[in-house]
Amino acid sequence: MVEFTLPQNSVVKKGKTFKAKGATNIRNFEVYRWDPDSGENPRIDTYEIDMDHCGPMVLDAILKIKNEIDSGLTFRRSCREGVCGSCAMNINGKNTLACTKAIADYNGTVKIFPLPHMSVIKDLVADMTHFFDQYTSIKPWLTNDAEPPADGERLQSREERAKLDGLYECVLCACCSTSCPSYWWNSDKYLGPAILLQAYRWLADSRDTNDQERLDELNESFKLYRCHTIMNCTDTCPKGLNPAKAIAEIKKQLVQRDHS
Ligand code: SF4
Ligand code: SF4
Ligand code: FES
Repeated sequence: MVEFTLPQNSVVKKGKTFKAKGATNIRNFEVYRWDPDSGENPRIDTYEIDMDHCGPMVLDAILKIKNEIDSGLTFRRSCREGVCGSCAMNINGKNTLACTKAIADYNGTVKIFPLPHMSVIKDLVADMTHFFDQYTSIKPWLTNDAEPPADGERLQSREERAKLDGLYECVLCACCSTSCPSYWWNSDKYLGPAILLQAYRWLADSRDTNDQERLDELNESFKLYRCHTIMNCTDTCPKGLNPAKAIAEIKKQLVQRDHS
């Protein structure tokens, strides 16, 4: 019989409970805490939050914890309005942006973990190095061999510009990629839904003239074809985008090019 041994420090333990003394309108927040450099196991700390003195979003509660209860809690955030993509985390089992997710959308205890299947730097901070290396690999900038017009800009028609809708809004939060089973198992080679949506954003741009080179780069069994249309990506995107459709569009362009 095969026996498995859990890696050292892999068991998540129950941590401390921080009471909200004197509060009458309380919500509980359970938050994943781990400092890999400490040699200790991860733990779940519980924070009682006085909702009479807290903003409406999950990020407001996390900021309240850091500012008033436990300054060691570590997480990313910047814009507080769903634009920077940095506050992505797993809340009650689903990846989302903490700043645009209302506490009132959840019943009972709010459980907060880092993005799944990513290395943890500390607490809710996932290591995004590989994700952004993959982003760089698709050359996420306009490439056009022709000289720009003498009077300045490379213009688009309204119809050409509309083709970027549903693509340019991506904030690279990685909620989709880290909810994708194919990315969990093959992220060393599979680009994942976020990066493929970005790749399609440049294929769809009428001003970019390097479609053939971009398609050649993507036409590889692991980079693109690990997507099995499970649709977790589209289900989870906090910006309401559809990475699975963008992936299907890339596959369609390849079929049309290679079989016409
Ligand atoms: S549709 Fe493709 S990219 Fe999206 S979750 Fe499924 S396998 Fe991953
Ligand atoms: S497609 Fe949506 S979930 Fe994926 S990185 Fe972009 S904004 Fe985030
Ligand atoms: S803080 Fe910028 S997206 Fe949440």
